[in-house]
Amino acid sequence: MTLTEDIGNRRTFAIISHPDAGKTTLTEKLLLFGGAIQLAGEVRARGERRRARSDWMKVEQERGISVASSVMTYDWEGCTFNLLDTPGHEDFSEDTYRVLTAVDSAVMVLDAAKGIETQTRKLFEVCRLRDMPIATFVNKMDREARDPFDLLDEVEQTLALDVSPASWPIGMGRDFKGCYDLINNRLILMQAADKNIRSEGISLSGLDDPRLADYLPEDSLQTLREQVEMVRGLCKPFDLQSYLEGHLTPVFFGSALNSFGVRDLLSGLRDFAPPPRSHKAIERRIEPNEDKFSGFVFKIQANMDPKHRDRMAFVRLVSGRFKRGMKLRHVRSGKTISVHNAQLFLAQDRELAETAVAGDIIGIPNHGGYKIGDSLTEGEDIRFTGIPSFAPELMQRVRPIDPMRAKHLARALEQLAEEGAASVFKPYLGADWIVGVVGSLQFDVLAARIDTEYNIPVRFEPTELYTARWVVGDDPKLLKQFMEANRASLAEDHSGHPVYLARNSWHLNKGQDDWPDLRFLKTKQEV
Ligand code: G4P
Repeated sequence: MTLTEDIGNRRTFAIISHPDAGKTTLTEKLLLFGGAIQLAGEVRARGERRRARSDWMKVEQERGISVASSVMTYDWEGCTFNLLDTPGHEDFSEDTYRVLTAVDSAVMVLDAAKGIETQTRKLFEVCRLRDMPIATFVNKMDREARDPFDLLDEVEQTLALDVSPASWPIGMGRDFKGCYDLINNRLILMQAADKNIRSEGISLSGLDDPRLADYLPEDSLQTLREQVEMVRGLCKPFDLQSYLEGHLTPVFFGSALNSFGVRDLLSGLRDFAPPPRSHKAIERRIEPNEDKFSGFVFKIQANMDPKHRDRMAFVRLVSGRFKRGMKLRHVRSGKTISVHNAQLFLAQDRELAETAVAGDIIGIPNHGGYKIGDSLTEGEDIRFTGIPSFAPELMQRVRPIDPMRAKHLARALEQLAEEGAASVFKPYLGADWIVGVVGSLQFDVLAARIDTEYNIPVRFEPTELYTARWVVGDDPKLLKQFMEANRASLAEDHSGHPVYLARNSWHLNKGQDDWPDLRFLKTKQEV
């Protein structure tokens, strides 16, 4: 197959949802349809096995959340799908944001009884910033649900997004019978007896097809006809361009638990979701079908096996083809690296990556040296943009219980910062380190990880700090003056960038007012 054909068959996507809407269940069913797993329950089981492997993951287990995200690749009807998992808990949204920089589209899962929830909305906003196409899956139709028109209205109003139902539900809760596929004119009935069945649907010539009466009682049929007429009158017809530009979402109704609607979602992704898109670099825009390899690191997972200090850099391929043994340029350091041991992630296994194309994700095992945002190329100096670091909202001082371990702690913190698990700041004055996070649960996870993975018991202590801002200025002299005048409020982050640590909002405003020619940034683009 040519490179362009190979790339055209890739669909790299993530699922965004509020916890409990059914993301895990849907993931599992997508993998089941893709033949990547044999039985439902395996994703959860695998998660549990993985969790059991190290102590810090106990934190996540105890709290019933998933901290680590991963990649699952599977094939279905001629397409290769790369599904990037995102942690659901809001304390880990920073990780989610980065994962979203590595996908081309998203599936938004809603609980049919709840509609848009806080986390759905937040994640949606991130997708919108990137004009990402979003398909919607309204889940749990087998339970008491809200009126479908109401749900569509909510999506349209709260997200300012056009909606176009791809299917229409017939009944709900105990009376949920299935859906009418509005795109292909098929009736798809739910077979609740077997939760893993892959319903093919019954092709019809339309809602006037006399065969409908064989499957649905007259009253359901009547309601369906009326509702579909309303839908066709009220909602926009599906417009591919509008979806690709992020202005319109096709809406599928289903029940992931019953494997219902999953096939339709998959064929929707195959038919409409975008293949790998071009990416912006500082120097130029990179097209996926360029001959030469390029990619960027969007995630680093450390200590996947706590016995070995191994780290995995997850690389999204932006262009070209990867071949095992390839020599790649690590643009930040200027070094050339021969990559022999890259991994591909299947649903249940990892395997050695012999080849991969734009849109795919490979994992490069390493012992440090890769940072989030790093670019890899076949020689050209391009640096991809757009991976954010967020100003922390909570900051604590961290100290080793054994003061002799301070140096080791510094190393551990640096690694964790490179991995993106937290922001780490070294104040210019004083010996302590400050750790900044977006959600308080991250402190617990960090303490447990520093203890089990680096063998350094630590204590976190509250600080009087309010927030941090990366300080940037075009005039190096002015920046130097600022730094000399504010040493007591300044720190360096793990890459040596100056950071202003504000004690309260007044202090922050004062810094900004006193130095109008400097910029105090809330997010730092990792380049
Ligand atoms: P999440 O990853 O988005 O957090 O959600 P998850 O898939 O874990 O689903 C949350 C709960 O909703 C689970 O129940 C799951 O079984 C249930 N669920 C998912 N899809 C459907 C559906 O289509 N219909 C119905 N009725 N329920 C659904 P749980 O009791 O929390 O977990 P479990 O004990 O069933 O695993």
